Amino acid sequence: MNRLTKDYIVFPLDFSTAAEARKYVRLLSGRVGMFKVGLELFIRSGAEVLETIRKEGRARIFLDLKLHDIPVTVSRAMEQIAAWRAAYTTVHCAESRAMLQAAVEGAGLKTRVLGVTVLTSVSGRDLQESGLDSAYADDPGALVIKRAQMAYDAGCAGVVCSGQEVAEIKRRFGDRFVTMVPGIRPGWAVEADDQKRVVTPGRAVQNGADYLVIGRPIRDAGDPVDAVEMITSEIEDALAGR
Ligand code: C5P
Repeated sequence: MNRLTKDYIVFPLDFSTAAEARKYVRLLSGRVGMFKVGLELFIRSGAEVLETIRKEGRARIFLDLKLHDIPVTVSRAMEQIAAWRAAYTTVHCAESRAMLQAAVEGAGLKTRVLGVTVLTSVSGRDLQESGLDSAYADDPGALVIKRAQMAYDAGCAGVVCSGQEVAEIKRRFGDRFVTMVPGIRPGWAVEADDQKRVVTPGRAVQNGADYLVIGRPIRDAGDPVDAVEMITSEIEDALAGR
């Protein structure tokens, strides 16, 4: 199946109400490949929002709930996520391989599980305070790779990672291991906001990213549809040169 350029774009519905989310689902359906629903919106109005995305019918669902619990609980929660017909979902890699395997088993064949390796909000010092070897405090990137290995061994479809880590992850785990990349900032989006390791859409795709999570540069643009079109043509150029 040939991928369309829009399939690279994942728009996070980072809104607190279903009404706001609905507005963007209607506006961007058919222009992006997936809508990401996170904890805030899911807790508040999950059923309603997922139903809206499904009814619009032109984009898939990424249910980003970042599970972390004992294996049996994770497995059963994953069954419920799969029942929502989410294309992708997430689990933390920080616990055990057994938990990751349980996640993959629970999700079944239709929902693909991505591992969250190290949150970008976590510093080396945080890692040390939480009891990890000080080697990881000096080099959190080494922990990202170690956890990606766990995800790979457990049968996860891929990981969430920064655009700067994509190339190394693809080199180690192969092209079919999916990379979902947040922290994307087009050259024209001046604000980096709270994102640190940012890359442009073109650079992320050149590095091998499969999906780009792009929120504020689209949401806060004067014309969000225009912003998506500019991003789409940047991705097209990068694909042509890859
Ligand atoms: O493009 P923008 O920074 O607005 O995207 C924010 C979205 O990316 C949020 O939904 C957030 O959960 C997600 N995300 C992130 N950093 C990560 C993982 C996910 O910003 N490391």
